[in-house]
Amino acid sequence: MSPFAFLQKGPLWQIRGNASPAAATIQRAGSPLRGRPGPLPGQPGECVLPMDMSAKVLDLLEQGALPGRSALVACIDLYSAPEAEALRAALFARARAVARACFGRHIFVRGLVEFTNICRKDCYYCGIRRGNARAARYRMSPDHILACCVNGWNLGFRTFVLQGGEDPLFSDDVLAALVARIKAACPESAVTLSVGERSAASYAYLRRAGADRYLLRHETADATLYARLHPADQTFAERVRCLHDLKHAGYQTGAGMMVGLPGQTTEHLAKDLEFLYRLRPEMVGIGPFIPHNDTPLADFQAGSVARTLVMLALARLMLPRALLPATTALGTAAEDGREKGILAGANVLMPNVSPRENRKKYMLYNGKLSDGDEAAENMASLRRHIAALGYEIRMDRGDYAAGEGLPQACPRPPKAGA
Ligand code: 5AD
Repeated sequence: MSPFAFLQKGPLWQIRGNASPAAATIQRAGSPLRGRPGPLPGQPGECVLPMDMSAKVLDLLEQGALPGRSALVACIDLYSAPEAEALRAALFARARAVARACFGRHIFVRGLVEFTNICRKDCYYCGIRRGNARAARYRMSPDHILACCVNGWNLGFRTFVLQGGEDPLFSDDVLAALVARIKAACPESAVTLSVGERSAASYAYLRRAGADRYLLRHETADATLYARLHPADQTFAERVRCLHDLKHAGYQTGAGMMVGLPGQTTEHLAKDLEFLYRLRPEMVGIGPFIPHNDTPLADFQAGSVARTLVMLALARLMLPRALLPATTALGTAAEDGREKGILAGANVLMPNVSPRENRKKYMLYNGKLSDGDEAAENMASLRRHIAALGYEIRMDRGDYAAGEGLPQACPRPPKAGA
């Protein structure tokens, strides 16, 4: 029997019968679902959050408060129901308004360099996991990585995201020297690292070498689900430790999660929001899970785009100034995924500045986009598409700007699994 038999197949989420505070109907006059009273179609007997209560959850988030778990669960389910399109549109409009109040119509771009797909970790969802013998491995030299950044700098990029598997050859000294060279060769640029779990000393050292930001998604804030998606030596507690060390080393820190992971329930997603609320990351990457053929999770369904967008919009309400990318996974899951992400409150895009021949090898999941508007060389087309949405591409560093009542410190570490 497959070791993954415990993960239920079929629909990857379900509405929990007793999760909402009250069995509810949608009857409020003037609601976007007016004329369709009763439980949402397709979910007979299940309860959803009454409209005024769901509005209250959004109000609380916008006021900087954390709604209770069951209210969050009901809210996520209400807004991501397939039929709730009008309701979702209203949520997205609200998230956009928050983004516009903080960033105007600016969309920041980051030049992404996927510099190695060699990885010592074995995450069950990921196409470049150590255990995938079919992956064609590559590793770029520091000179080559630097050349990609310089090329990106000439295209106008002022943030470079160095993302890679946990490749042991990229030791602290190799990475620190590389960061210092990029900072020297590309004036006024920010360097973001995304190179996985390291020691507190390593994070501090790389920060001193000039790295400004660090992306390390928490993947899921439920320790049990985390344990099911990773081998025993990869724990949620360790991931949380890393995120706190990153914050304390002074990075603008990015967390984030996949939506629609095998075995993930709405309760898990509510925990993700609670986790983000406590950690207060400066950046949050949210994308749908997409299966990869050569992983143990190959046969599971991809996460829902609608649900991913709802999580993005809720994250925007909760962390108004956070830098939220419209992720490549979102663009892969739906043709207009990135546009939809921006219209749900995202304000960052990460075009690929890696060499063309490597892009196809950085295959985290089936069909991962690496050309078209994902490619830095097609900036003109990207600009046009973004302008057509009513937004403007910004090439400057686009740092996290602290302000009143905004995400900032993390007062105390969230308890692992809490
Ligand atoms: N589907 C979607 N996202 C994935 N990632 C890894 N594998 C997948 C997948 N199968 C995401 C993880 C990781 C980031 C680099 O890519 O969240 O942190």
